Amino acid sequence: MNFPLKLLQAFDPETSHTLALKALALGLGPKRQHLPQGTTQLLGCNLPTPLGLAGGADKTGAALQAWADMGLGFVEVGTITPNAREGNPRPRIWRLGNGEMVNWMGLNSPGVEVVAANLQRFRQHNATFCLGASLANPSKVKEGLTPSAELLAPWVDFFTFNASCPNVAGHQAHDALAPILQEVAEVIAGAAGKAVVVKLGPTDDPEALKATADALLKVGVAGFICCNTIPPDKRHLLHTPIDWPEHDAKPVGGYSGPQLLPISVAMITTLRQHLGKDVPLIGVGGVQTPADAKSLIWAGANAIQLYAGLTRHGVKLLDDIRSEVALMQA
Ligand SMILES: Cc1cc2nc3c(=O)[nH]c(=O)nc-3n(C[C@H](O)[C@H](O)[C@H](O)COP(=O)(O)O)c2cc1C
Repeated sequence: MNFPLKLLQAFDPETSHTLALKALALGLGPKRQHLPQGTTQLLGCNLPTPLGLAGGADKTGAALQAWADMGLGFVEVGTITPNAREGNPRPRIWRLGNGEMVNWMGLNSPGVEVVAANLQRFRQHNATFCLGASLANPSKVKEGLTPSAELLAPWVDFFTFNASCPNVAGHQAHDALAPILQEVAEVIAGAAGKAVVVKLGPTDDPEALKATADALLKVGVAGFICCNTIPPDKRHLLHTPIDWPEHDAKPVGGYSGPQLLPISVAMITTLRQHLGKDVPLIGVGGVQTPADAKSLIWAGANAIQLYAGLTRHGVKLLDDIRSEVALMQA
């Protein structure tokens, strides 16, 4: 059964997301034929398709088999925090129309133990589907991340570090990330023996981006995901202004949707040209059509991820992108 996208879209965005995850977890999602192993190598995985689910869409690993059945090649689970967090008060997701969304979730998570148990359950019947676990910067990196990395490592292929969530206090500027990432990479390599890639925020400053990437590669980071949402303090990156949702009379949240595409494409282009062909790069932001997906791959992304486009167009978008990308790779 293809669950009814139009019906889900009639609810407020967070309710429709919760309902969709419940339906998927019950096995009611769309099913595609088993995908053969493909040609894309990514962070220890051999992907059937270089098309993945972006961070934030399945924060707890509740519906992993459903994403695989739907025809995705990998899922970034999380962002996961060491302890349970409520996140920000509701409403905290807004649809703006035309595939644009703003979210102000604030790293809500049931905590790493719940997520690790979900992943363990999934691995009992699916040992091969590619999973990344997204971790965020708790106040104390070593104390917070070591137990998380140890608990999750047996079930995931790689880790991502969400260095760019705009919805929590204290998220780091790119140029301040290297010392933190040195600890993170040490912790994850030490505790888990797995690669860590960093999810960067949007930027239109290629020189600063190159400097950040150089500094992070030096401290042991394996690659990059470009990019996270646009927060109000980077609103100059939007070519068409939006009406920002407000909390306590201040604009809040992070923008997802089509206006991110030129930014994610430019960031991937810059990094690929600067870093050469071997550093893994995942492109995310603004993919709403197969042409968008192809532009990220042409820019140099090894793989791409979807969020807002999938909530707008459903599995049809996935089908269309997967077949066009397969043609590109043939
Ligand atoms: C409701 C919502 C929650 C999100 N939560 C996370 C998160 O927990 N971790 C993360 O790295 N990115 C998170 N993101 C950002 C997405 O992974 C992605 O970077 C962003 O939406 C841009 O891609 P898109 O235009 O395809 O949606 C979230 C996005 C949305 C809309």
